[in-house]
Amino acid sequence: MTKDQNIMEATDSQMIDDFLSNNKGKKVVVVQGLGFVGAVMSLVCANGITEEYAVIGVDLPTKEAIKKINALNRGEFPIASSDPKVMEYFEKSRSKSNFLATHSTYAYQKADVIIIDINLDVDKVSSDEKVLQSYDVSLSGFKKAIQSIGRACQPDVLILVETTVPPGTCQFVVKPIIEEEFGQRGISFNGYIGHSYERVMPGPKYIDSIQNFYRVYSGIDEPSANKVEAFLKTIIRTDEYPLTRLSNTHATEMAKVLENSFRAMNIAFIQEWSNYAEEAGVNIYEVIQAIRMRPTHKNIMMPGLGVGGYCLTKDPLLASWSKKTMFKSEKGLSNSEQAVQINDRMPLRAFDIIENNVKGGLSSKRVLLLGISYLNDVGDTRYTPVELLCRKLLAAGAQLTLHDPFLEYWDELELAIETDLEEIFQKKYDVVLISTAHSSYRNNIGLINFFETKKDLFVLDCWGILSPEEIIRIAQKNTVKVIGRGDI
Ligand SMILES: NC(=O)c1ccc[n+]([C@@H]2O[C@H](COP(=O)([O-])OP(=O)(O)OC[C@H]3O[C@@H](n4cnc5c(N)ncnc54)[C@H](O)[C@@H]3O)[C@@H](O)[C@H]2O)c1
Repeated sequence: MTKDQNIMEATDSQMIDDFLSNNKGKKVVVVQGLGFVGAVMSLVCANGITEEYAVIGVDLPTKEAIKKINALNRGEFPIASSDPKVMEYFEKSRSKSNFLATHSTYAYQKADVIIIDINLDVDKVSSDEKVLQSYDVSLSGFKKAIQSIGRACQPDVLILVETTVPPGTCQFVVKPIIEEEFGQRGISFNGYIGHSYERVMPGPKYIDSIQNFYRVYSGIDEPSANKVEAFLKTIIRTDEYPLTRLSNTHATEMAKVLENSFRAMNIAFIQEWSNYAEEAGVNIYEVIQAIRMRPTHKNIMMPGLGVGGYCLTKDPLLASWSKKTMFKSEKGLSNSEQAVQINDRMPLRAFDIIENNVKGGLSSKRVLLLGISYLNDVGDTRYTPVELLCRKLLAAGAQLTLHDPFLEYWDELELAIETDLEEIFQKKYDVVLISTAHSSYRNNIGLINFFETKKDLFVLDCWGILSPEEIIRIAQKNTVKVIGRGDI
């Protein structure tokens, strides 16, 4: 540790002590990782159902994380969200003064419960087109995070892993590291280790997707599972959304990656059929609507621009990696791996449609993208399929204007994003893409009026958000295409 870090650590320890003396009598929950999951999980714990906790969120002493920590302590929530409950819960925790953010691992010493909400990434090797070719999983960051807990935590703490991990991790990685660290401290660990994965959806129901939703959990032994259950009951509405206990941590870890692989595969599946519908002159939306009448087929997916976000783009690979590495299987999960490849390629289909419909090539063409986030009503650009589409458009010489109501800057591409739709309408374009299905683009009279005043625009609706009437109106003077609609 450098001298500066030592000073920072000492100041933070004092801050933690002061915070705890203002929260006397409350049990202490420490959330490791203040990202999309941990920041909001902290708010859920700080606004528990049956127990009033003192909550400390710990992140790394990196420049980016310190910015987040300082913002939280200043009263600025670092994640833009369309869910009003996020700010409501944040304000409540501020008025109760029961939430503190820090980078100091001293917090682990004070914890009754430690929740692990850090990232565990897949290193993907992709072609120039960003399409998956091979991948690897490194557990080194995750192991370091567990070590930092094992070095400081109390022997009777509950460690609850929420990070999406390769099946086998709690038993084969977390437990041995904690025991090893306690061995080095010359004491034995008699605490609890459990697993309960997140189903959080960072959208209009951000908070509810944690607090008012079904949960699966387990422990490395029965006392651990009992502890997890008792804790979850204090922060989640388990009266309405009963908990599901599975036999062991391998099972809950598998449940998470299977759940997401199932979704990734269903999306990849409909992508192939969407291409087929376009070739056959069929409206896939009409077909899907008809099929959804069958109760057994209600959840068939809709087409779109592609899959993004942190989870569906990696979780099938975590599962396949675990099968080969943790459980020494010769074969991985080939269907799940292929689903990731198909999904990665989806934006290339949109690019082909644009290229085939814009006369004279894309060089110097003015292209407006409506939506950068990977998901509607969320400000999250991680692995957004819009990125590959933008890279292709830029490589073809197009001039891009970006709009997203939830984002002002796109870190990955280092590009400014406009947030005011009215201002966007003042400029001229050759191509307009509806690239994210944000609610504000649906049934938007201003947007349709804007299209109607133009002529010779090429409009591509990647998510099928334009109604049949709107398409007719826009197509009077422009060309409109919708992904999956071969009939237009
Ligand atoms: N984002 C989602 O919608 C979602 C949904 C369900 C599950 N998950 C899973 O939840 C986990 C967290 O996801 P996320 O989206 O919040 O990730 P994120 O990248 O937004 O946040 C992770 C945070 O952990 C911090 N961190 C890393 N190592 C640390 C350490 N040693 N100590 C303290 N902090 C550390 C990082 O700095 C970062 O701020 C992942 O396993 C993810 O797959 C995410």
